[in-house]
Amino acid sequence: MKNILITGGAGFIGSHLVRLMVTKYPHYNIINLDKLTYAGNLENLKDIEGRPNYTFIKGDICDIDLIPQLLRDKNIDGIIHLAAESHVDRSIKDPFAFANTNVIGTLNLLQAAKNYWGEFGREGFEGKLFYHVSTDEVYGSLEQEGTFFTEETKYDPHSPYSASKAASDHFVRAFHDTYGLPVVISNCSNNYGSFQFPEKLIPLFINNICNNKPLPVYGKGENVRDWLYVEDHAVAIDLIFHKGKTGDTYNIGGFNEWRNIDLIKVMIKTVDRLLGRPPGSSDSLITYVTDRAGHDLRYAIDSTKLNRELGWSPSLQFEEGLEKTVRWYLDNREWMERVTSGDYQAYYKQMYNR
Ligand code: NAD
Ligand code: DAU
Repeated sequence: MKNILITGGAGFIGSHLVRLMVTKYPHYNIINLDKLTYAGNLENLKDIEGRPNYTFIKGDICDIDLIPQLLRDKNIDGIIHLAAESHVDRSIKDPFAFANTNVIGTLNLLQAAKNYWGEFGREGFEGKLFYHVSTDEVYGSLEQEGTFFTEETKYDPHSPYSASKAASDHFVRAFHDTYGLPVVISNCSNNYGSFQFPEKLIPLFINNICNNKPLPVYGKGENVRDWLYVEDHAVAIDLIFHKGKTGDTYNIGGFNEWRNIDLIKVMIKTVDRLLGRPPGSSDSLITYVTDRAGHDLRYAIDSTKLNRELGWSPSLQFEEGLEKTVRWYLDNREWMERVTSGDYQAYYKQMYNR
């Protein structure tokens, strides 16, 4: 039996990972620690919340008493750390929240893991792993078509969000190099799929198209993002957690670059078609607005290493994944309504009687 702590498991990617791990490994205890910020939604995990190998704990990764206690009480063998403030626009408005959770929170987890596993010396690190889930945004922005971020690309973050993720990555490596803590890091490109909070491009725009609301395209819509289906990311994390080389970094991405405006046009077509609207009905919703400050032009991940060393590749073509995603949001309007109205936040109280 292994006891695995997943942080941020009530968020978008975290909920997909928790579901995968709880289902695939009935002999693991999966402990989901989440503060339930605006981005945490336990309704994302309704289908697995009664499983005997799943435990939810509401708590903050920055809590210096809670984390060491939890590692000890639950006899944690592995940590997969996803909890973070994750939205670039919010980081521009409130950078301190990002430094706090993403940097101090990560440091608190690292320190607790080092102290607990290394209590009687480095032999205690044997069989343990601290897996840090990071982003391609730490590498900065690419100008030229045909260039990619590799694991060797120098860090060059531009937003407070990416600066905080870069700082946390550096702390993770420092704990490996200084104390010998067994760590692994992955840097992934933009994810899309079900259960994503509708502040991010894809769910926000699908919801706005459905409700005939304007689609705020930043700048000229020429920025390029590299999109990966969230369940493929979860599979990659599982693989790296079990087979990745300690101390290494793995880039995760699907070689799937889209200019924002082209992606938005595909989303409009797909939503209109699935809602039975005549083609072109929602084109006029496109509204060009002031660009995001410091907006990175292009991200593109080279995930050759992950493919070569661990055999991972994305399972879905983008068109298929996007269609599946649009259908999910259309079929789950209630989920979206509960998120946009704020009702989802009462779920924890109901479920956990608090
Ligand atoms: P999200 O915003 O959907 O979820 C974050 C989760 O962390 C939420 O459940 C929230 O309640 C929790 N959380 C926030 N602060 C916390 C704290 N102090 N203590 C405990 N829990 C806290 O984020 P996401 O999009 O699922 O991203 C998850 C991770 O993956 C992040 O580390 C992010 O940087 C990284 N990442 C995201 C993407 C993407 O496209 N979304 C791509 C690459 C990497
Ligand atoms: O690359 C990985 C990163 O992808 C993750 O680390 C972040 O957590 C995640 O939020 C995402 O960051 P982006 O800033 O790329 O994602 P977002 O969905 O906010 O924006 C995608 C693109 O769409 C970006 O170029 C900005 C643009 N955009 C976004 C919004 C919300 C718009 O034009 N209008 C919008 O309203």
